[in-house]
Amino acid sequence: MAIDVFTQILKDHDSIEDLYRLFQGETDPKNREKIGNDIIREATVHTYTEEIVVYRAYQEYMPDGKKYAQDSLKEHEDIRKMLAKLEFLKVTDPEYAEMMDLAMKEFVKHVKEEEEEILPRLKRYLNDELVDDLGEEYARIKPTVPQKPKIHD
Ligand SMILES: [Fe+2]
Ligand SMILES: [Fe+2]
Repeated sequence: MAIDVFTQILKDHDSIEDLYRLFQGETDPKNREKIGNDIIREATVHTYTEEIVVYRAYQEYMPDGKKYAQDSLKEHEDIRKMLAKLEFLKVTDPEYAEMMDLAMKEFVKHVKEEEEEILPRLKRYLNDELVDDLGEEYARIKPTVPQKPKIHD
């Protein structure tokens, strides 16, 4: 049986926030670079997977889900734009830390809204079987999405 989709999403959110805390506490540039790259990859993979599986479910199962999906997608795109900029900065450049802080500030805000408002709302429209099906799909799609942010401009 698949792990339910909500558990997987919360696990992704927590592990990205943990990485950011590690990043903030790390002073060695090599380690900071490695953790920074982990954050870029994990946040990119999480946002793409969520869009394919979960934001589609917003539209399919929540009566006003289209609006939630559009707004959330826009927030993901803003976050990925910042992550993409990080790839062109050196970790020792002060701009790197500033951009990372900005991206993570947006990420934390976005995640809080998901966890406190949107996901509990989605849950009300799903039965156990759907939660499992979405969990299975989430686990299947996650290894297939891009690991680097694509820029659409
Ligand atoms: Fe999201
Ligand atoms: Fe999320």
